[in-house]
Amino acid sequence: MIHKITEYISEEALDKRIREVAAQISKDYAKKEIRLICILKGSVFYTCELAKRITVPITLDFMSVSSYGSGTESSGTITINKDLDESIEGRDVIIVEDIIDSGNTLSKLIPMLQVRKPASLKVTTLLDKPERREVDDVNVDYVGFEIEDKFVVGYGLDYDQSYRDLPYIGIVEL
Ligand code: IMP
Ligand code: MG
Repeated sequence: MIHKITEYISEEALDKRIREVAAQISKDYAKKEIRLICILKGSVFYTCELAKRITVPITLDFMSVSSYGSGTESSGTITINKDLDESIEGRDVIIVEDIIDSGNTLSKLIPMLQVRKPASLKVTTLLDKPERREVDDVNVDYVGFEIEDKFVVGYGLDYDQSYRDLPYIGIVEL
């Protein structure tokens, strides 16, 4: 199916903002090594762009969790489809998310990772839809862009697995 997609955040604006976030993280983690945890699949593009611009040493790991079916609403529970390869014990960990919507995914994921005893655990997300939040225990440390309540695609984000490859963030006309 082909949808009409309107550009919402340009490639240039994304690049500029990711540089700023990377600079802030590099400053906050001076003399440390960061374990970036990319939450598949949506965060792949943001993780790569962020990792390239962070100036302190990083290591990468990947995790896949699902809270959405093929639709656009969060189901309220998460399933681990692929766990991390490495232990995070004693590591300075940053979870890299594509978007925080209801907050349900993170409010389940954070305690799951906390029990593995990282030295620290922070969260960055490219996009945040604060209006949609259903939980109040999710603290996001580094936000790329706060956006309004629209369903967006591109830069890793999908609609039914499509449009992840768009180099910008677009709004789908559903
Ligand atoms: P939450 O659990 O409701 O915070 O949802 C987080 C996940 O829902 C994200 O990691 C995305 O995979 C997905 N999601 C939420 N909003 C959007 C959107 O506007 N476009 C694409 N995926 C979305
Ligand atoms: Mg996701």
